[in-house]
Amino acid sequence: MNSRRIAVVGTGYVGLTAGACLASLGHDVVCVDIDSARVAQLGSGTVTLLEEGLPELVAEGLAAGRLRFTDDLHEPFAGDPVDVVFLCLPTPMGPDGAADLSAVTAVLGQLRDEFPPGCVVAIKSTVPVGTSDLARDLIGRDDVFLVSNPEFLREGSAVEDFLRPDRVVAGSHSREAAQRVLDLYAGLGAVTRITTPAGAELVKYASNCFLALKVSYVNVLAELSERFGADVRDVVAAMGDDHRIGGSFLAPGPGWGGSCFPKDTNALLSMARSAGVDFALLRASLDTNRQVRARIVDQVRAAAGGTLRDVRIGLFGLTFKAGTDDVRDSPALAVAELLHAEGAILTAYDPTFPVLDAGLAARLTVTDSPSIAVKGASVLVVLTEWPQFRELDWGRLAELVESPNIVDTRNLLDPEVVRAAGFSWTGNGRSR
Ligand code: UDX
Repeated sequence: MNSRRIAVVGTGYVGLTAGACLASLGHDVVCVDIDSARVAQLGSGTVTLLEEGLPELVAEGLAAGRLRFTDDLHEPFAGDPVDVVFLCLPTPMGPDGAADLSAVTAVLGQLRDEFPPGCVVAIKSTVPVGTSDLARDLIGRDDVFLVSNPEFLREGSAVEDFLRPDRVVAGSHSREAAQRVLDLYAGLGAVTRITTPAGAELVKYASNCFLALKVSYVNVLAELSERFGADVRDVVAAMGDDHRIGGSFLAPGPGWGGSCFPKDTNALLSMARSAGVDFALLRASLDTNRQVRARIVDQVRAAAGGTLRDVRIGLFGLTFKAGTDDVRDSPALAVAELLHAEGAILTAYDPTFPVLDAGLAARLTVTDSPSIAVKGASVLVVLTEWPQFRELDWGRLAELVESPNIVDTRNLLDPEVVRAAGFSWTGNGRSR
């Protein structure tokens, strides 16, 4: 494999993982970020993101001299020519649901004249369809090539997903440029696909929105299972046996969240609207996601005896899923907000002890002790599927509560264990 000189702009989940993994594949990588404090930390090998294997890869890259960090956007272009520049910048949701591209366009504007002739600019950020062409026009040079190279990694398993991808997609008007990007991943033996720029940009949204749709679908099936006296686990297990459907992303819960699904569903909906297409199915997926939260609140209210006013509730889990310390757009927080609005008094236990913004922190006490979370509570609500919740001493926790009720939105706990400890247990999609 040819070792290439690579610049990665942005050291969030996507950029840092890409940089560290590409260095581990033998490339010479410099990562740029405007956050000087983060750059200094990373340069000394400190990784604050909770990502399995990432600190080790960063340390390896630094030690081998194949990975560097800088807060100077222009520095990578001062020495030997860079072959590929990856843009891994945030594209947050704007007020109208569309992705905000200002970080991407600002960087392109600054680097326009510095890209070496023949350089490939690969966009990894999730960007609206058409951004690659927009970037090409903004750069305005015939000797710089744009490639859309969407990233499909999940938080919590980012390194694994990068190094063992289901596919690598490169979309470009230049086949040679797309192939140059795919060649960077040559060591991985992954399925590769070359598409148009719009094709690659759409694949990312299409995949995330389809997965969100799948979760919304199963969340309604969970409700139906309760009504019809079925167990949703049996239903999804048999559905998943059909290889056309597949068994993943069929676990019911408090709705989907995180830094991608909410942003990407809204962005695709907004893009479809601009193109004059009514994506009713996707809109329904978002509506369902809101309804799921309301249904959970109904369950908690029922478990509390009909009202939530001044009722103490212990929340188990705040992150949007297990294995990450990220609470962005977490369904757990959305449920917490709804419970608070009905007058509940909330204490939450999460193993990552996340820091909440000031507004939320005023409505919710966070603790790193399960005992404190359950003390005096009338209902305990499991919102994130942290496996360690299963190992808690439920007998001891039962002694601390006001009333022993558990609403387990993730079907995480073993009902026999918690019932033996004296709790009444309500699962999700499990007939009573
Ligand atoms: C997602 C995509 O999976 C990834 O390919 C993309 O690059 C970024 O967005 P991530 O945001 O890390 O990754 O989370 P993911 O593991 O996909 O989960 C998204 C949400 O769906 C979480 O809130 C999760 O709890 C929920 N979910 C997932 C379910 O409720 N049930 C499931 O069966 C699966």
